[in-house]
Amino acid sequence: MSAFSRRSFLMAAASIGLSVPFLVANARAQQSGGQSRILVACFSRTGNTRTVAEQIVTLTGADFFELKTTHSYPAEYRATTDQAKREQQQNFRPQLTDNVSNMDQYDVVFVGYPNWWGTMPMAFFSFLEAYDFAGKSIVPFCTHEGSRLGRSVADIEALCPNAALLGGLALRGASDGSIVTASTSAQSAVRDWVGSLRLS
Ligand SMILES: Cc1cc2nc3c(=O)[nH]c(=O)nc-3n(C[C@H](O)[C@H](O)[C@H](O)COP(=O)(O)O)c2cc1C
Repeated sequence: MSAFSRRSFLMAAASIGLSVPFLVANARAQQSGGQSRILVACFSRTGNTRTVAEQIVTLTGADFFELKTTHSYPAEYRATTDQAKREQQQNFRPQLTDNVSNMDQYDVVFVGYPNWWGTMPMAFFSFLEAYDFAGKSIVPFCTHEGSRLGRSVADIEALCPNAALLGGLALRGASDGSIVTASTSAQSAVRDWVGSLRLS
């Protein structure tokens, strides 16, 4: 985690009254390789999905893993949508820069992504094919601008047939640089949803 996002995480957690020892322990467990049995894996281009992922980490004490591709996406929105569409049409599997070396440790894996052309970005297809999720619970969440979870849950089921899927969350996001998932109403929806899940 960058120094900036670590500081943001600590400030956000402090604002909801968590203790300094908890904050330090939780901040250390931010990347996979921590002690939690819960992992939050996310992909995010403009930060809306990452904001939700960071809130779930704060609420659950989960470890955190951010998918990044070895190839970059253009800064410009339309060029990105064109590239993403080509990747989907070609059923492309982007190479990821990093992997989760301790996946066996996790019983519950939250997977968070922006809806790209009706489903997950292809980076998540690469991620879900790279591990054995048999016996694990997968909890999808996405941000979108109208398509909600789209086909993504069916795609996760097809990629991970032996995992248990827990109810997904679709939250309104944005691609204009604003982080609408940081709003009080969005954060309250995430808190209620996480509280409703059976994570044991
Ligand atoms: C390549 C691309 C494709 C997208 N396709 C869809 C779509 O099919 N349906 C939809 O509702 N939103 C779509 N969006 C909008 C994003 O899902 C939305 O802006 C999301 O909140 C961005 O999340 P992020 O800030 O974590 O990157 C698309 C955005 C991009 C960049």
